[in-house]
Amino acid sequence: MRKVQYRQLGKWGVRISTIGLGSYLTIGMHVDEETAKQCVKFAFDSGINWIDTANAYNRGQAEITVGKLLADYDRDDYVLATKVWGPMGDGPNDRGLSAKHVFEQCHASLKRLQTDYIDLYQCHRPDPDTPLEETIRIMEDLARQGKILYWGVSEWPAELIQEAVDLAAIMGCRPPISNQPRYSLMWRVPEEAVFPTCLKNGLGNVVFSPLAHGVLTGKYEPGQPPPAGTRAADDTQNQIMMDMYWTDEKLQKAQQAKAMAGDIGLTAAQLAMAWCLRHDAVTSVISGVTKVAQLEDNVAAADAEIPDDVYEALCELFPLPTVEAP
Ligand SMILES: NC(=O)c1ccc[n+]([C@@H]2O[C@H](COP(=O)([O-])OP(=O)(O)OC[C@H]3O[C@@H](n4cnc5c(N)ncnc54)[C@H](OP(=O)(O)O)[C@@H]3O)[C@@H](O)[C@H]2O)c1
Repeated sequence: MRKVQYRQLGKWGVRISTIGLGSYLTIGMHVDEETAKQCVKFAFDSGINWIDTANAYNRGQAEITVGKLLADYDRDDYVLATKVWGPMGDGPNDRGLSAKHVFEQCHASLKRLQTDYIDLYQCHRPDPDTPLEETIRIMEDLARQGKILYWGVSEWPAELIQEAVDLAAIMGCRPPISNQPRYSLMWRVPEEAVFPTCLKNGLGNVVFSPLAHGVLTGKYEPGQPPPAGTRAADDTQNQIMMDMYWTDEKLQKAQQAKAMAGDIGLTAAQLAMAWCLRHDAVTSVISGVTKVAQLEDNVAAADAEIPDDVYEALCELFPLPTVEAP
């Protein structure tokens, strides 16, 4: 069976596979447990060694299912990443990055995930209402208590990542070691400021929605309704993809990328993921799947070679966002 590659997470010692298994909208939500179990097994069999989840995914249900499925495997064999920040209740302290909420949710996540420690504990978004030093301190305390090994951030702007690294150094605390931004051919924004900041400070990037929610698989035809059973066809799941990617122009470009993939013997999904992995700042792409066959397809991105001319042509087809002059 094809094996994935491993990379260090930024400058840090832990090694993760270039493809990770995600759980947003899938495990513990729209994917039945037997299929999720087969996906996890396929992931392990292919060498994937890390799983991404979040407390807020289906209000704890994703973590509960991930925990149940991982109970079949040795704890040493995988790197478990989860997140905190999203609302977990209606109370005033049931969200955000305060010490109280992070401490309580860390323990709740440990229970749901059936484990003693979280390898990578990520701040799902910034919390402008909590001083950064409070969040840095609770992450340090949780690490010293053995509840987490590393902490990271997700969708934090470059300036805040820099501030967190600098402040952690002043406080004598562990800095964030990773960032989890949205990144794909259809969303290249991190290349502008976030990736350079991460490279400068040794943070790895584990990127989400590398297929633009499935649009970059080329399975959606311009001018056609989405096929039944896909994320785009389900109004309870498709809001982000409709807002961000659902235009005839983008669907057409996805068809062009699919044709370019075919020309070099790849599927569109493999090309889209392998393109992400070409950036120096990217450690791993997180793959969300609803079927084992999708993971089988995507895992092959790990050792897919994109010739330079095809890489350049893709960058031209999906240009960087235009930055307005200040
Ligand atoms: N930090 C954050 O804020 C954040 C946000 C979002 C996601 N994430 C993480 O990143 C992971 C990936 O995000 P995502 O699910 O949006 O990623 P994505 O790769 O852009 O989209 C995944 C979806 O595309 C479809 N798909 C995947 N592989 C396919 C293939 N080979 N052929 C055809 N269709 C395929 C599946 O949906 P259908 O089969 O239903 O069409 C699948 O659920 C999540 O699971 C989560 O762990 C993090």
